Amino acid sequence: MSSAIKETTSAKGSGSDIDPTTASLTVGGKSHSLPVIIGTEGERALDTRKLRNESGYIAYDDGYGNTGSCLSNISYIDGEKGILRHRGYPIEQLARHSSFIEVAYLVIYGELPSAEQLAQFRERVRGNAHLHEDFRHHFQGFPPNSHPMAVLSSMMNALGCYYPNMSTNNRETDLAHFDDTTTLLLSKVRTIAAATYRMRMGRPFNYSRGSFRYVDNFLHMMFSEPYEEYEPVPEVADALDLFLLLHADHEQNCSTSTVRMVASGGANLFASVAAGVCALWGPLHGGANSAVIQMLEEIHARGDDGSRFIEDAKTGKARLMGFGHRVYKNFDPRAKIFGAAAERVLKALGREDPLLDIARRLEQAALADDYFIERKLYPNVDFYSGIVLKAIGIPVDMFTVMFAIGRMPGWIANWKETAETTKRIHRPRQIYTGPEKRDFVPIEKR
Ligand code: CMC
Repeated sequence: MSSAIKETTSAKGSGSDIDPTTASLTVGGKSHSLPVIIGTEGERALDTRKLRNESGYIAYDDGYGNTGSCLSNISYIDGEKGILRHRGYPIEQLARHSSFIEVAYLVIYGELPSAEQLAQFRERVRGNAHLHEDFRHHFQGFPPNSHPMAVLSSMMNALGCYYPNMSTNNRETDLAHFDDTTTLLLSKVRTIAAATYRMRMGRPFNYSRGSFRYVDNFLHMMFSEPYEEYEPVPEVADALDLFLLLHADHEQNCSTSTVRMVASGGANLFASVAAGVCALWGPLHGGANSAVIQMLEEIHARGDDGSRFIEDAKTGKARLMGFGHRVYKNFDPRAKIFGAAAERVLKALGREDPLLDIARRLEQAALADDYFIERKLYPNVDFYSGIVLKAIGIPVDMFTVMFAIGRMPGWIANWKETAETTKRIHRPRQIYTGPEKRDFVPIEKR
């Protein structure tokens, strides 16, 4: 358990004066005492771990909106106030002063690195960019039009086969190799993403350039052509770094809790992040950034200024992609930071994108509309990120792959936390609503 967690049951009054130490639940005329747990930032939880044993009841929470699945030291979100912090550091400060690789270190290891630690970490990531030559042949097994998320999840798992000593499913052994596995995954996820793009374009793979920083190297592996080196535009590379940084972790979202779920069964880090990629793919999660561009293009194609689409969203005929969030009920701080980056990138590239104007109009219209105000629906990080990725030249169906590269530190940190602290497999219960017991009917009598 985190040292910062106050478990207020251990001694009467060990919580603050106003915090109750227990809650009581009365059901069927019997009262049950539920310990109260209080997090570092004052989040309150009822500990229901013994509820079923003691009362015969379980808690039902479809979608887990009221369920804390773990105690975690990594990221903190206050959705009502629009706060996101990693290991205590506000996202705004990290976005302003840090880089993706430094934030990855922070998220994974819990502290900001010293200059020496950062240099060594960068060096290890840099040194791991190559793919085993045999591994590169796996790409030929996919049809050229394969979805890059399908390729990525398969490849993350396949990668483990090349490092059997790091993917043993023996926790102690896998944790002993954690530092190596971490830098390997952070580096190779980017190489695999670029190689997938090259495969789909029918272009030769580019080898990494050691002298380049993380994002420039990615852009080089994506866009360099034989005898024609790609020169990253600094504003573009900076925006990409910011994009990855802003996605580094986000507490118990769908993919991260999937990673923890898989890890709780003892699966290795490669398998766990491969599962995370699959969970991220859906349009309500990481797939939203591609869905935003598709939505903006459709609005543009039908000559709508956005107002017709807003009406469709209000009547349930459409969903305003890039809007709304399970946790943020004020604004998504990442969206604020990235909205400004979209302007900078387009300016640096000397481009105008009518989709940015439509996005701005949609945002203004939605923020002034009662439907969105009442439901506390605000732009999320995906609302503007697609415009930036599109300007960089990333194909729309690869946007979610970019999200996966960014989220890798969070998945890794959550795998480590689970492997180090979880003793029990994650195994929710259910309320069965199917038919009662009935007897088998032979096929000729049905
Ligand atoms: N457009 C129109 N109406 C919406 C939207 C939207 N984007 N999002 C929620 N609503 C409505 C919803 O219809 C419901 O209305 P009512 O109360 O009348 O039935 C109400 O708002 C509550 O919505 P919900 O679906 O119960 O909320 P949720 O917490 O289950 O879903 C969400 C959160 C992010 C899945 C949802 O807001 C959504 O589908 N947004 C669009 C997809 C998107 O942008 N996803 C990226 C999330 S950020 C990146 C990440 O972390 O993955």
